[in-house]
Amino acid sequence: MQLLEEQRETWGTRGGFVLAAIGSAVGLGNLWGFPYKLYSYGGGAFLIPYIIAMFCIGIPLLILEFSLGHFTQRAAPDAFRRANKRLEFVGWWGIILGFVIITYYPTILAYCFSYMGDSLAAIFTGAALPWAGEGAEGVRNASKYFFEDYLAGGEYIGPFRGEILFMLILAWILMYFCIFRGVKLVGKIVWLTVPLPWIMLLILAIRGLTLEGSMKGLAFYLDPDWTQLAKPSTWRFAFGQVFFSLSLAFGVMLTYASFLHRKSDINNNAAIIGIADFATSFIGGIAIFATIGGMAHVTSQAGQPVPVNEVIKGGPGLAFVAFPYALAQLPGAAWWSLIFFFMLITLGIDSAFSITESVLAGIVDKTGWRRDIVLPVMSLVGIGTGLMYVTIDGLSFLGTIDGFVNGTWGIAFIGLIECVALGWFSRLDVLRDHANERSDWRLGRWWNLLIRVMIPVVLGTLFFWSLYDNVQEYNAGKFLRDINGQWIINDCVGMGIMVLACVLAVTMSLIRSPHDKTEKQARQQRIEIASARSWGIAGFVLACLAGLIFIPIFLFVNTNAKEEAFLFASFLLGAASLLMCHGLLERFDNGVSRPSGFARLGGVMAIVDISVCLLVILVALSGKVADTQKTPVEHADHLSQTSYIILGVVFVLIVFGLGWCFWKAIGAVAKNEPEQQSEEEPLS
Ligand code: PHE
Repeated sequence: MQLLEEQRETWGTRGGFVLAAIGSAVGLGNLWGFPYKLYSYGGGAFLIPYIIAMFCIGIPLLILEFSLGHFTQRAAPDAFRRANKRLEFVGWWGIILGFVIITYYPTILAYCFSYMGDSLAAIFTGAALPWAGEGAEGVRNASKYFFEDYLAGGEYIGPFRGEILFMLILAWILMYFCIFRGVKLVGKIVWLTVPLPWIMLLILAIRGLTLEGSMKGLAFYLDPDWTQLAKPSTWRFAFGQVFFSLSLAFGVMLTYASFLHRKSDINNNAAIIGIADFATSFIGGIAIFATIGGMAHVTSQAGQPVPVNEVIKGGPGLAFVAFPYALAQLPGAAWWSLIFFFMLITLGIDSAFSITESVLAGIVDKTGWRRDIVLPVMSLVGIGTGLMYVTIDGLSFLGTIDGFVNGTWGIAFIGLIECVALGWFSRLDVLRDHANERSDWRLGRWWNLLIRVMIPVVLGTLFFWSLYDNVQEYNAGKFLRDINGQWIINDCVGMGIMVLACVLAVTMSLIRSPHDKTEKQARQQRIEIASARSWGIAGFVLACLAGLIFIPIFLFVNTNAKEEAFLFASFLLGAASLLMCHGLLERFDNGVSRPSGFARLGGVMAIVDISVCLLVILVALSGKVADTQKTPVEHADHLSQTSYIILGVVFVLIVFGLGWCFWKAIGAVAKNEPEQQSEEEPLS
């Protein structure tokens, strides 16, 4: 397959692309997902799994998506199709789930618009903020305001809450105007929507840190509880958070890279985006915890103490109850609220339109329909489906759907399939070379090992583990069915959407696209010599054996003694088979020869084997850890020494990380290498 040298629209500048990708990554998830999870899973200790996940999974996968998008110059579905004819459904799957997100993400922006309006009104009229209140009673007030007055009170238009509906339409109109002119305009808008929330976040952080009592808040944020590291769920949440935060697996980053100029850097941009996203999350956490620490101090001075851990709650509670409440305690409350909600809007809007753009580009690339017609239709469909969330039960529905998209069946699963698809069923080396040829620094062979072996094993384990959890919950009457055996409607709708997404993805991939011809030509040129067939078969058989060993474990669950031996044997066989198959692909998938199909199948099977082995181990382990009583950490009024060290290390990491990336970028510009015009090879 030749590179498509057609004139595709491009971002104006490198900065435009990098900022747009950062804009997509940095969103509502950074501000309430990260700080809340960090606090719940060990404070400073959580940073260890998080940083590992960011550097070992997040950034390598980002490079993979960038490289595929840039190589094919196509949005997700077509890009995957070019990687392998049968893989188009992977792209559609991500895009369809992206569309599910885009039905509810603007609803949260709509809340922000309302709260921002209230803050403005308070500034102009000089009245108190409607959610303000004193002490412990005040927290209840703020909660009542959000859940009863705002979400469920006021005027209704039919079954829909009028104000939220109005704001929802406003959010969509805004998104429409951001992307209707194509990515060139997006590349300009993000010069506003990315730095602006950063500045406001910094202001909020500095404001928080100068409050009395802020250090106590920070102690809650950073004091490490190392025992949490022994809990597998800590690791699971760290990995999940990295995925969501970097907008991976929805085809967003892939689509953005498809609009990149032919000679643009890939690897270094990915590193910059990853580190910037982490920095935003971390500083967001500082702003939130310092402010809440200040709030705790004020309320205890007034004789009505509100404990920090009562105020910190995840999800919308943090943004629309706890934080507004905390800000309302400060002098100049209305102004701070205005800054906060305006920041949330600028933070979220570029994440929201990045998804719209990826869905739009997917449809346009596949069908050749006109962008200026598809976008308005899509926006209307978006508002139409968004109506579900502006009803009286809208928020809990939103929570459930979000849980599904970001849970077992959503993001991490698609990430897994993406790695397996590109790692085992297309030529990973081509993508790596493509990225290396134009990047400020180069990836080694370790990247293949990561994408093909390590990341799938980790994500596979997480997938099976969540699946196991779901089954447990179902049995306990907490998932799909309640204790009385009644179906839980929200869960069922969520599950239905997930299944529908998969079916729809496969259906869409069966529809012929206008680009079929070029593919046929490419196919004819391909040289097909299957190599090392017997080794491939051996790998496959090993993987089968590793799987078979599990049958006795499941059959004789309670005969403990032999379980471990079986487990160990299965793990060893699986690992041997996986490495062998990986080696075969490395050696033979080079454009001259092709490895036997057995090697590919064996690899995928070995990933499943090893993941199941790890699942069994982790489940056993988490049972043991849960048994040991956890002593609640006592927080002092100041940061502990370890916390200062953690704070220092993170800042050094961020500053040096970004410094290193920029240094590499400047070095590459200075060298001004002659253009390398290499022959591009076929991807499959
Ligand atoms: N990364 C965004 C956030 O942190 C959310 C997002 C997910 C955006 C998927 C695009 C695609 O909020």
